[in-house]
Amino acid sequence: MDEPYTAVCQRAVTALERPRRVVVGVAGSIAAYKAPFVVRLLRQAGHEVKVVATESALRFIGAPALAAVSGRTVSTGVFDDPAAVEHVAVAEWAELVVVAPASADLLARVRAGRADDMLTATILTCQAPIVLAPAMHTQMWVNPATRENVAVLRERGLTVIEPDSGRLTGKDSGVGRMPDPELIVSQALAALTQPAAGGAAAQDASGEGDKRLEGRHLVISAGGTREPIDPVRYLGNRSSGRQGCALAAAAVEQGARVTLVQAHVACDLLNALPAQVTVVAAGTASDMLRAVRESARNADAVIMAAAVADYRPVTVAASKLKKQVPAGSDHLSEPVMSIELTTNPDILAGLVSDPPRPGQIVVGFAAETGDENGDVLFHGRAKARRKRAHLLAVNAVGEELGFGDVPNAVVVLDAHGTEVARGQGSKMEVARLLISLTADLVNAA
Ligand code: C5P
Repeated sequence: MDEPYTAVCQRAVTALERPRRVVVGVAGSIAAYKAPFVVRLLRQAGHEVKVVATESALRFIGAPALAAVSGRTVSTGVFDDPAAVEHVAVAEWAELVVVAPASADLLARVRAGRADDMLTATILTCQAPIVLAPAMHTQMWVNPATRENVAVLRERGLTVIEPDSGRLTGKDSGVGRMPDPELIVSQALAALTQPAAGGAAAQDASGEGDKRLEGRHLVISAGGTREPIDPVRYLGNRSSGRQGCALAAAAVEQGARVTLVQAHVACDLLNALPAQVTVVAAGTASDMLRAVRESARNADAVIMAAAVADYRPVTVAASKLKKQVPAGSDHLSEPVMSIELTTNPDILAGLVSDPPRPGQIVVGFAAETGDENGDVLFHGRAKARRKRAHLLAVNAVGEELGFGDVPNAVVVLDAHGTEVARGQGSKMEVARLLISLTADLVNAA
């Protein structure tokens, strides 16, 4: 787990030295029109593909198109050729199943163990890795029923790729879009070489010592929120979510169950997480406030590693804002354009002043740069006293520091701004230090 996650995924992809037999499942979502691209990419890479589509998928995309790109007939119903017991034959043939798109209904049926059509019957029978690429409207994706279905499927070892955010089928935008076919294919092929859920990735990395967070639940936020300006633009930041994902993995090493509330963390990082991590998507500061407080109701500790936007636009335009070019402009002048902002709630400070569960431990991060008033630590101490979290990990950020796939260095302060520890190294090493300090406090509480 010490290696950068991207390196692990890269190795997984390049380790595929021979063509594979892949079932591409297609469920009933408008994104079904993108399924042929998934099939084509797999075939271009030399893999054999068999398409299994649901009845509703065939209302969005024709069987002839899927048959033409895959080079095989498309299967749909279990009674199309009962004598062939096709769902068993296809499930045994498959070395990998990738469902793109996976509708909310398909996720629910797979979670329930239904086998009422060829696709669900194949999935229920199949022993190969199963990768699901969801596509649905935001409200369906964030519905507790779907959240629970996804968490259970991940616990069982299926890979559920995080959907993208952006323009949906109707007029609105949000999380729920099917990711790009290239990304689906690389995630699916990576699943062939990743250890099964509950396997090596979920084990204690050291294999030694007691697990200090056994039976504990930690909520960890990761990534950076994006505050929409209009359907295409947002205010965002450079947080990658690597530190939050490393914290989740380090907490699992110590036996904890983790809820990771993530904002715009790359799929390869999320898919490399151990199975004990339940991922909840929260794109904006307001979404994150709701998701963190809800998940924290039964948590022993909350670690806010996400970069939460301090401000958001007062209004979000329903359609794309047009560039204002004054009449008679020579296109060389630079008219000023301003966006009115309002302050987002401070989630960390709220967890301290009004904890969702009494006595829970709260840990924050302070990404700082020095300025003419003081250095990084000066600003960190002031923040520790202001936010009053049990622990605040202060780190310097800048062009080459803190963000992305780079080492990290932190000074950990208590609520009075007093230094309790310092450490540097990979994000995983920093994560282990913080999880160890958090475990001290959880076990003393
Ligand atoms: O004030 P600043 O953004 O530097 O504080 C950083 C810490 O506060 C981080 O732990 C971050 O997750 C948290 N935070 C928050 N809600 C905000 C802004 C920051 O929880 N609106």
